[in-house]
Amino acid sequence: MTETAWDTYAQQKPQRRPVNAAGETTWFNWTQYPDHGPGAEILGVSRGSAVLELGCGKGGNLAHVATLGARAVGVDLSLAQLRAAEARWSDTAELELHQADALDFLAHCTDTFDAVFSVFGAVWFIDPARLLPAIRERLRPGGMLAFSQRPPAEGCYGCQASYITRSEDEDPLVVKRWDYEPPRWTRILRQHGFTGATAHVLPAPVGPRKIGTLLVRATMGPATL
Ligand SMILES: C[S@@+](CC[C@H](N)C(=O)[O-])C[C@H]1O[C@@H](n2cnc3c(N)ncnc32)[C@H](O)[C@@H]1O
Repeated sequence: MTETAWDTYAQQKPQRRPVNAAGETTWFNWTQYPDHGPGAEILGVSRGSAVLELGCGKGGNLAHVATLGARAVGVDLSLAQLRAAEARWSDTAELELHQADALDFLAHCTDTFDAVFSVFGAVWFIDPARLLPAIRERLRPGGMLAFSQRPPAEGCYGCQASYITRSEDEDPLVVKRWDYEPPRWTRILRQHGFTGATAHVLPAPVGPRKIGTLLVRATMGPATL
């Protein structure tokens, strides 16, 4: 059911623009707004790093990571999203794409990553109590976990319903997502053995839209749990 929902979403979501405002053909965007916010420097990626994206969608951020010389591995539930990623980026960047639930992928994967990231991706749509231990298993000590998503609506915390709209004659599809305020995220990450956790809401750019972007980062601490 969830797979169908994300395939439906894939049909509604356009491909990334050919170039950004700076004229670049690949770029990293943590936010829901074009040409806004920090870039891939957040991940500390260098040539030869192994980087995993959970819920890579159409692959725009992952393709940029690949052009920095990293091994770029993407996981997504939706075949439609992954096909769009292949169609768009196969001439630009070498991406290793897997169709899987992020939890299943992490459970069966034997590789270790220098960074794991998710942009409005699977980290938002899986209970962190299940996902963070699985990410820990695959991050090298000192490796970086970073993710972004919409901040919670005031008073709406924990598991929430997200609606993917369809035609006027069809009910929307529902997926679960997990929303917490920044201090709660840093606590959750500490509880799961991550260190140096930071979480803050990046303000929206000047304009009519006011909702910012929650950006969360932490490094993989020593295996003390
Ligand atoms: C809102 S889209 C964001 C896609 C992409 N990161 C971007 O910035 O455009 C969420 C993506 O996460 C994927 N996703 C959701 N739950 C997932 C899960 N449990 N495992 C893997 N991928 C998942 C969806 O298929 C979808 O492509």
